[in-house]
Amino acid sequence: MLLEHLYCYLFGAVLLALPTFGCGPHPGNAAPFDIPSLITANNLARPNSSTAPHKKIALDNVRVFDGTCILPPSTVVIDGPLIGSDIMGAEHIDGKGGILLPGLIDAHCHPTNITHMQELAKWGVTSGFVMACFSQELCSSLSNHTALPSVLRSSVPASAPGSVHGNITIGATRDISLLINGTAAVPSWINSQLAGQDPDYFKFIAEIPGLDQATLDLLVKDAHQYGKKGVMHAATLEAYTQAILSRTDHIHHAPLDHGISSALVKTMLQQGQISTPTLTMMRATALKLGNTSGRNFTAALSTTSLLHKAGVPILTGTDANTQSGVPATVPFGTSLHDELENLVEAGMSNIEALLAATVKPARAFGLWDRGTILAGMRADLVLVGGDPLQDIKNTRDIRRVWIGGVQVGQ
Ligand SMILES: *[C@@H]1O[C@H](CO)[C@@H](O)[C@H](O)[C@H]1NC(C)=O
Ligand SMILES: *[C@@H]1O[C@H](CO)[C@@H](O)[C@H](O)[C@H]1NC(C)=O
Ligand SMILES: *[C@@H]1O[C@H](CO)[C@@H](O)[C@H](O)[C@H]1NC(C)=O
Ligand SMILES: *[C@@H]1O[C@H](CO)[C@@H](O)[C@H](O)[C@H]1NC(C)=O
Ligand SMILES: *[C@@H]1O[C@H](CO)[C@@H](O)[C@H](O)[C@H]1NC(C)=O
Ligand SMILES: *[C@@H]1O[C@H](CO)[C@@H](O)[C@H](O)[C@H]1NC(C)=O
Ligand SMILES: *[C@@H]1O[C@H](CO)[C@@H](O)[C@H](O)[C@H]1NC(C)=O
Ligand SMILES: [Zn+2]
Repeated sequence: MLLEHLYCYLFGAVLLALPTFGCGPHPGNAAPFDIPSLITANNLARPNSSTAPHKKIALDNVRVFDGTCILPPSTVVIDGPLIGSDIMGAEHIDGKGGILLPGLIDAHCHPTNITHMQELAKWGVTSGFVMACFSQELCSSLSNHTALPSVLRSSVPASAPGSVHGNITIGATRDISLLINGTAAVPSWINSQLAGQDPDYFKFIAEIPGLDQATLDLLVKDAHQYGKKGVMHAATLEAYTQAILSRTDHIHHAPLDHGISSALVKTMLQQGQISTPTLTMMRATALKLGNTSGRNFTAALSTTSLLHKAGVPILTGTDANTQSGVPATVPFGTSLHDELENLVEAGMSNIEALLAATVKPARAFGLWDRGTILAGMRADLVLVGGDPLQDIKNTRDIRRVWIGGVQVGQ
């Protein structure tokens, strides 16, 4: 099976041909994508011993970003997988006055193999929300690897028969039972997703034509009934409006056709909804498909500014993917740093951008063990040379990364 189209299409025009099961390599494509092979390869890369040796490290002379400022130089203890407090018996590492950030979180990405995960890790991304798990086995094969990011798994993206995303789901899975034709299909769809490999959160697609308002509303309601968050894709004003009305917890992307009205911003704020604008993808799409009316990056940027000014929480998500034929490919890892710059361009302060990549996504998804540098939290840490409060580009100046207390690349 080919995975050529397993990313978020933002607009309908792109899907010209569906990938098919079992066909040979596409012209110019040396190796076809194959889910079972990916799963096998990813699982083989998992260390055979589940118990990594317990190490204790005293990271001396680091300036901790505590969420509001950069603290004077101090020592941070890494005690096994967690941040510790007792320095006794630790091996010392000189942090050389570098700045220590909580591990970065990409709230929207599409890794499929270990190379993608290594790129994320190298660039300080210690947790990644995989936003389209067509195969839970594939998403799980990326989980629990030493010194690679934590993977938070979505459901199959909920979509309608005949829609752009519905066609993507069929192309990837050949399983029409994964599509939703009206409200009557919602309860069994939700139940089959939960009964499979229980996703960490649900992914829903708002698009025109696509699922109608009543179906989107019911999906969100049912997800909540089972204690799961709803994340909704919406990349045009009309779809974005549906997403707001559905009361989904998270709305991903930002409309490229028009900015949203202040009335909609207010509704989103009042309903406690959270935005992950994926400006890196919106910019790349506008540049590739033409930055004109209908594909207007400035509109996406201005929506993000309005949401932020109104107090709607904003998270960093990149839509990183390397599939061929996409409206835009977005690299893994470096794109998180692009998104930080985009959020600053949208009017967020450097501190606010850093919070959007650390504590805010952790809290928004109930990950209470990460997002800040405190004893007892996961030792997901990024040591950078320059001060990102002075210049957000300094997050790229990465010296060392730890994931669950294990240094990346060692
Ligand atoms: C785990 O063991 C298998 C079989 O012995 C081996 O092929 C594989 O390379 C090992 N994996 C790692 C990450 O060491
Ligand atoms: C992962 O996929 C990329 C293309 O996106 C490819 O360049 C890389 O070699 C693959 N890595 C592995 C381990 O298969
Ligand atoms: C990952 O580890 C957690 C905690 O040990 C475990 O519950 C989960 O089943 C593991 N998942 C995979 C895919 O190995
Ligand atoms: C989805 O695929 C069907 C069957 O090939 C086609 O009729 C339909 O136009 C496609 N939908 C979109 C939005 O491209
Ligand atoms: C969706 O349901 C309607 C009736 O509610 C039916 O007419 C239509 O054929 C169904 N479409 C698909 C693709 O199953
Ligand atoms: C898109 O076009 C607008 C003018 O319409 C321009 O201000 C903006 O910089 C352009 N954005 C990109 C990403 O090229
Ligand atoms: C793009 O969006 C901006 C902000 O909403 C708007 O001022 C501008 O007129 C739009 N450009 C086009 C070509 O639609
Ligand atoms: Zn996506």
